[in-house]
Amino acid sequence: MDRRDRLIARARQGYRLAYGVEPTRFVAAPGRVNLIGEHVDYNDGFVLPCAIDREAIIAFGPADKNAKNPTLDAVALDMGDMASARDSFELTGAIRPGQNNWQNHVRGVVHALGRYGHQLRPMRMAIAGDVPIGAGLSSSAAFGVALALACSEYSGLGLGPEMLAKVAQIAENDFVGCACGIMDQMASAASVAGHALLLDCRTLEHLPIPIHRGLRITVIDTGLRRSLTESAFNERRAECEAAAKALGVAALRDCDAAMLDAARDSLEPVLYCRALHVVTEMGRVEPVAVALATGDTRMLADLMREAHLSLSTNFDVSLPPIDRLARLVGEALEDAGGVRLTGAGFGGCLVAVSTKDATAAIDDAVARYNADADLPARADMFSPVSGAAPIALG
Ligand code: GLA
Repeated sequence: MDRRDRLIARARQGYRLAYGVEPTRFVAAPGRVNLIGEHVDYNDGFVLPCAIDREAIIAFGPADKNAKNPTLDAVALDMGDMASARDSFELTGAIRPGQNNWQNHVRGVVHALGRYGHQLRPMRMAIAGDVPIGAGLSSSAAFGVALALACSEYSGLGLGPEMLAKVAQIAENDFVGCACGIMDQMASAASVAGHALLLDCRTLEHLPIPIHRGLRITVIDTGLRRSLTESAFNERRAECEAAAKALGVAALRDCDAAMLDAARDSLEPVLYCRALHVVTEMGRVEPVAVALATGDTRMLADLMREAHLSLSTNFDVSLPPIDRLARLVGEALEDAGGVRLTGAGFGGCLVAVSTKDATAAIDDAVARYNADADLPARADMFSPVSGAAPIALG
């Protein structure tokens, strides 16, 4: 049984145990790793994530025929035992927040669909996933996009990738309390296998960029965990918005290096640093897309080193152990690939894009780091996969 078959079996069994009948259908939505363009999405710029072979799977089917009111019943198989990790709420009237995060993802998706005028048929679902939680690999976006797709499929809404992404983002913004941008949800909804997704976060136009076949994507999990909602993520977003306002632009997307330099003395130093990260990071996205397509690992090494440094110093979202690991891996790779912090930061993962042969050097560097680290890091190779889709069972 492969990884996905095991997840499907788990969702199917969970559904059966929770509701006493077989589910009728399944959908899946992947997590993502961002290759470049960090903390750029909510500034309306370009980003370059790719979907990875870790995902959320939802088994679903009709509601209990004897239920008095139209409800949505959900069981989240990774969030506790079968009795505690359940939710049930009425689909008519205003949707109210639940007691915890995962319930609010489900309720938030139904609320967001309502905002677009979509009414759902009563349904039941069981959710299972293998995207590591809190690692910066978008377990939340995978969850939200899978939920939106399950609802769309079951109620025949026919939502396309952009709408699935928007619905999942609204759920997080309005019900989960995270002011995230649209990158993770778009990567989960719209990615193409073997490609990264060059996404314009202002227009949502996107272009799949082929990943050169000599390259490998390695994600190095530091084991350090964060919670997006509680972290300084919302604060960083607010700082970027304050910088854009002070610069007189709608978003930092509309600011370039010369404009920022001219305003240096009038901007609060912390806002200047945040804007400097965003403006320089935006300049790295297209060159990384080119390097990814052509397999130019020297270029990847330089650009990803600069990106990490900027996240650590100007945007202040790294931690000393993460900087140390990035340095060790970067030194081991030399020109054979690049490495940097990926995702929101404050913990989580590094991503390395390197030649296939260089993966042994990454493992050696991680072993050297682990020899003195409080928490061991772990490297895994991921494949770039397609975005969310119904699962056709043979
Ligand atoms: C989190 C958010 C995204 C994005 C990244 C940082 O993953 O959900 O919208 O802002 O952080 O690039």
